[in-house]
Amino acid sequence: MAYDVAAVRAHFPALDEGAAHFDGPGGSQVPTVVAEAVAGALRAAVSNRGVETAAERRADGIVAGARRAMADLLGATPEGVVFGRSMTQLTYDMARALAKEWGPGDEVVVTTLDHDANIRPWVQAAEARGVTVRRADFDPASGELDVEAVAGLLSGRTRLVAVTAASNLLGTRPDVPAIAERVHGAGALLYIDGVHLTPHALVDVGELGADFYACSPYKFLGPHLGVLAADPGLLESVHPDKLLPSSDAVPERFELGTLPYELLAGTTAAVDFLAGLVPGEGTRRERLTVSMTALEEHERAMLDRLDAGLAGISGVTVHGSASRRRTPTTLFSVDGLRPADAYRFLAERGVNAPASNFYALECSRRLGLGDAGAVRAGIAPYTDESDVDRLLKGVRELAGGAVRPERS
Ligand SMILES: Cc1ncc(COP(=O)(O)O)c(C=O)c1O
Repeated sequence: MAYDVAAVRAHFPALDEGAAHFDGPGGSQVPTVVAEAVAGALRAAVSNRGVETAAERRADGIVAGARRAMADLLGATPEGVVFGRSMTQLTYDMARALAKEWGPGDEVVVTTLDHDANIRPWVQAAEARGVTVRRADFDPASGELDVEAVAGLLSGRTRLVAVTAASNLLGTRPDVPAIAERVHGAGALLYIDGVHLTPHALVDVGELGADFYACSPYKFLGPHLGVLAADPGLLESVHPDKLLPSSDAVPERFELGTLPYELLAGTTAAVDFLAGLVPGEGTRRERLTVSMTALEEHERAMLDRLDAGLAGISGVTVHGSASRRRTPTTLFSVDGLRPADAYRFLAERGVNAPASNFYALECSRRLGLGDAGAVRAGIAPYTDESDVDRLLKGVRELAGGAVRPERS
């Protein structure tokens, strides 16, 4: 069955406000079922996890259900799914825990393509242990991160490599399986930032070769929290700081304090919603496979329309369009205009396409865009042709001189 964007849009009350949302890479809108699941968990009797009371069992069931849902979404094992406040928090925690075993002479590799949440935690953990940090550089002209750019930095002392599965600025999808092969060949661990990939593609952490895979449900139609998936056996070997009375079991050992049950219920609902984007039968993983494949096709069609439209507007520069697979995310500038002015102009016309470095600060600087970055248009499951056409109309007006260029 084909992807029906009008039917999908009907599930999103936020769209009634009328804006064309290209701000999905910052955080997607939420379908009614997700909001209802969050509210339902708050309305029901829920207490700390346990088995004696119905309220305890409900909390326990919500946690177990969310681990199963995330495992289905990522092709992971439920017992290896860790929840936290955000990807940033989970990555800081894991960096500090892993670094306990590192020492001078050891090395970690980060990339200039990554969001800072997959750079700074590793850099700072390395600094604290006297570990050397190496930086794999992407090609600013193409936006590609070559496998050799990472592989060339590996040595017998490499402990961990941190790479994004997709750039939140350019959409570039590095060849993660090829990188994984080289990283594992060097005896190192691979930490994948999947925040920007997860909303746009069917993920299989095993196929990717990720030892750790981090993502954030609020980017794929869910609530604000973070998820880290890893092999439970690997998690057994890592010992984070934790409270004395809290569980030392995996994955609970990594989940500091009480989990946000209502947000976990919302996460399960978001995964179920994604699985039902295209109605069908089968296990949730099977339905996710069909739905995410159809979503990818829909988003690719919207991206092609957007890219073709932008290419036809003189005075617009599109940055680093990676030729390999790419998420439906486009970064562009309008000649002579500050990104913030373009952003405001579009916002005033009901087109939400923010401008920033979006925390991919090293990437933005490497592209020559400084800290101001550029305008980012991200396609989401609810993006339709009229959204794209509204954005293009606004950009045409901008390029035609609707805003006076900045004079210095
Ligand atoms: C690629 C990427 N990585 C990491 C993050 C940080 O995620 P969180 O807000 O869950 O810490 C973001 C957020 O925008 C992102 O786009």
